[in-house]
Amino acid sequence: VSRAALIVLLFAVVACSRTETPKLNRPAIPAGWPGISAVDDNPWNAERAELGKELFFEPLLSNNRNVSCATCHQPATAWTVNEDLIMGTEGTRFFRHPPSLLNVGFFTSWHWDGGTTSLEKQVLAPLENPDEMNMRADSLILRLRRDAYYRDRFMSVYGKEPDMYGVTRSLGAYQRSLISARSKWDRVETGNEALTEVEARGQDLFFSDSLACSECHVPPLFTDLLFHNNGRWQWGDFDPGRSRVTLDSLDRGKFKTPTLRNVAVTRPYFHDGSAVDLESVLVHYENGGNGNQLQDSRIRSFQLSHSDRSAILTFIMTLTDTSSMNDPQLKP
Ligand code: HEC
Ligand code: HEC
Repeated sequence: VSRAALIVLLFAVVACSRTETPKLNRPAIPAGWPGISAVDDNPWNAERAELGKELFFEPLLSNNRNVSCATCHQPATAWTVNEDLIMGTEGTRFFRHPPSLLNVGFFTSWHWDGGTTSLEKQVLAPLENPDEMNMRADSLILRLRRDAYYRDRFMSVYGKEPDMYGVTRSLGAYQRSLISARSKWDRVETGNEALTEVEARGQDLFFSDSLACSECHVPPLFTDLLFHNNGRWQWGDFDPGRSRVTLDSLDRGKFKTPTLRNVAVTRPYFHDGSAVDLESVLVHYENGGNGNQLQDSRIRSFQLSHSDRSAILTFIMTLTDTSSMNDPQLKP
């Protein structure tokens, strides 16, 4: 092969790899699940979602061109990252741990304090935050308009030049494709598999009145989508939680109940990443929280035997869905 032919060949390979990412299928929502909360002008659409996938993994979205959404939301760890407080473009640390983005389309508010009311609006938060991507929306649009590839892509999907409408709608559509509903627990629910004896024992404890885990971590999403003070927050903490949004002092220390789906791979835990493993989370609950005055009354101390403790953890493992993390259509 001549050198010229080789160069042509190389170009062809590069050109293909940028356009031929696996196609996205319309997300399949299991029976009995809540509906996806899409804004009226953004019903799920494969073309928008595919462009959204490209943008999600695109470091051009950050000021320094070194951080993409996926830096902090990595597929292998259920679209989060195993670091306590993650680093943005400037090497500074954001004060909260990134939540998993699997099933994020079913939520009704976003962020630990629920301060964001749609996935589309959410995009501006990491984009413009100096501790995350540190990128002004107007600079991003200029950058995308100067990029021949993205000009084309936006023209073909939206019929116009790149703008924030397209960026936010696309990222919203991609994130609504991130569905995790193929864990062992799901297969048991549909009658295709059975829990082992230990898993079943853990499930009984999880749903028991004395532990009350399922009061807030409600199936099928394993969150009630509401805000509670689970006794982690304490007076003097920098992060006030839900009261930042409601300005109600009784909401201090309340955080959005995180889903427990895939929690086996999303360490560290809690809004501030202060629990290094699931064992320490259980110890937190066994101790009945820290007893701050605003703590939810359902957080009460209880005693577990060594085997009970490992049964609960074994049950929580049944909520892990590696098929969504490995799904090629959800990755570039
Ligand atoms: C530097 C790390 C970082 C980057 C980059 C980043 N995020 Fe996040 N993400 C976080 C953190 C931390 C939170 C929690 C923020 C909070 O609760 O205040 C979060 C929260 C979210 C949530 C809310 C999840 C929920 O359950 O409420 C969504 C959705 C999200 N990010 C999407 C994105 C998108 C889209 C991008 C790219 C435009 C992005 N993130 C870039 C760290 C990051
Ligand atoms: C009153 C509601 C409530 C009850 C009851 C409850 N939780 Fe939680 N859980 C929460 C909230 C709220 C958080 C987030 C708190 C924070 O980040 O400060 C949380 C966080 C967690 C986390 C960390 C998840 C993550 O991604 O960071 C795990 C694991 C967990 N709970 C398991 C349990 C188990 C097991 C039980 C039963 C022993 C239980 N929870 C009972 C509300 C509750």
